Amino acid sequence: MKNQIVLLPILLSVLGVGTARLGAQTTGAPHLEQRGAATQLIVDGKPFVMLSGELHNSSSSNLEYMKPIWPKLKELGLNSVVTPLSWELVEPKEGAYDFALVDGLIEQAQAADQKIVFLWLASWKNGLSSYIPVWVKQDAKRFPRQVVKGEPVEILSPAGTATQAADAKAFAALMKHIKAVDSRHTVLMMQVENEVGVLGASRDRSAEANKAFAGQVPAELTAYLKAHRDTLYPEFKDLWLANGARTAGTWTEVFGDSERADEIFMAWQYARFIHAVARAGKAEYDIPMYVNTWLAGETTPPGDYPSGGPEPRVLDVWKAAGPGLDFYSPDLYAANFTEWCKRYHRDGNPLYMPETRGREAGAANVFYALGEEAGFGFSPFAIESEASETDPLRESYRAISAVAPLLAASQSAGLVHGFVLDRDRRMVDFTMQGVTLRVSLDNSFDGPAAGGYGFIMATGKDEFVGVGKGFRVTFTARGEKKVGIAAVDEGSFVDGKWVAGRRMNGDEDEQGVAWRFDPKQVRTEKLTLYWME
Ligand code: DGJ
Repeated sequence: MKNQIVLLPILLSVLGVGTARLGAQTTGAPHLEQRGAATQLIVDGKPFVMLSGELHNSSSSNLEYMKPIWPKLKELGLNSVVTPLSWELVEPKEGAYDFALVDGLIEQAQAADQKIVFLWLASWKNGLSSYIPVWVKQDAKRFPRQVVKGEPVEILSPAGTATQAADAKAFAALMKHIKAVDSRHTVLMMQVENEVGVLGASRDRSAEANKAFAGQVPAELTAYLKAHRDTLYPEFKDLWLANGARTAGTWTEVFGDSERADEIFMAWQYARFIHAVARAGKAEYDIPMYVNTWLAGETTPPGDYPSGGPEPRVLDVWKAAGPGLDFYSPDLYAANFTEWCKRYHRDGNPLYMPETRGREAGAANVFYALGEEAGFGFSPFAIESEASETDPLRESYRAISAVAPLLAASQSAGLVHGFVLDRDRRMVDFTMQGVTLRVSLDNSFDGPAAGGYGFIMATGKDEFVGVGKGFRVTFTARGEKKVGIAAVDEGSFVDGKWVAGRRMNGDEDEQGVAWRFDPKQVRTEKLTLYWME
């Protein structure tokens, strides 16, 4: 058919990108892989772009409750669901595991054509220990509590070695079970714990924690500081340098006598514990595992947010603490979305967002996260409350879903840019394949659009595919020659093949001046350029 162009194979063959498998994962299991410029989640041999949502905390504790939710999720355009799973329901009595819920959730997900990321809500959930089994809650001697402001609190101390062993044992049993029942790779990844850190103080002052705090900074951490001196997160590096760049000493000697040193110490405490839990799980079934973060405000003191969680400024501490975890993620509700994405998408850490805003904000931000930061997953919280036919997230997810293989190939090739524009940020420039693209708010017949978002992929020689709404693009060649717009077609991808719709070279294209995506609906369009001497 004349208008059908097979774009993806062309792009892939042009790319010639190298691939590298990260870690020593189980053959065939979901895993992360460096493919060209992007770290991607590979499922059954192919990159999987996760268009997800996270369920409310309690929804997935009951299979009957979940039944009507699955079709809604599919209708919203999801291909995967971030699904809480608590230690108390998996091991209600010590050593007696109950995997009926796990099996049921996997079966329901398969029937609904969805994948799952399980949230292991175990020792900590939002800094607290509300999801631990009663036999752990009852035994403060074996499973010691944190001491905050001079008082023991009902929160497990990460210094508790028996606690670590019990959590790790249950998690290992869970991973063994998932491996046994999930030959179809429905379970993609595991989040280990949820938003960990001390609340109410900058550090745990239990006897064990105090003892560790009075001791030396472990050699693994000081060796990491030396080896990664040039790439340490700037704020962390500045703190270390300001305290003399010492490579031995107590926590206060190396990091100063401040709440920041307390936070670094707690990061080490939690990281060591959770790496150990993850390692025990991976020994049974090696799929990607990560920890999420309750983000600190710019000037909020540690303890007002969970002190020790994988904030950007202590990410190096988490990385130094072991090889159990594959990456770290922001729970990103903050206004400066793009800045936080960059803080996590650095130094080998890929961007995946288990929790973020949905609706209008999510519908826009997903384009930036996946397009500009090569993210492999996006997941608004409380997704089952969002599902409606008019939710703007649905429109974005459906459009991205249709181009997902092309997006993944473009991420690998480093040939995609994403953006979110509004009245405060009206314009952005990108250069791809020797051409500068100026993307600005669409100036439609009704005046300038209030907002615009999308991504643009360079898909072949002088050819671009754009997805989004509310923006316009003009092109300038670098060098002597000039470029013009040859043609703009709207269209869609059907089984990886471009099927063109209307030719848009008139009003819709400002008569060849700009590539326009009007603010009414998310569109997918293909543009070709021509060159003038
Ligand atoms: C962040 C937590 O990680 C979620 O489990 C949930 O409690 C939300 N906050 C609620 O806003």
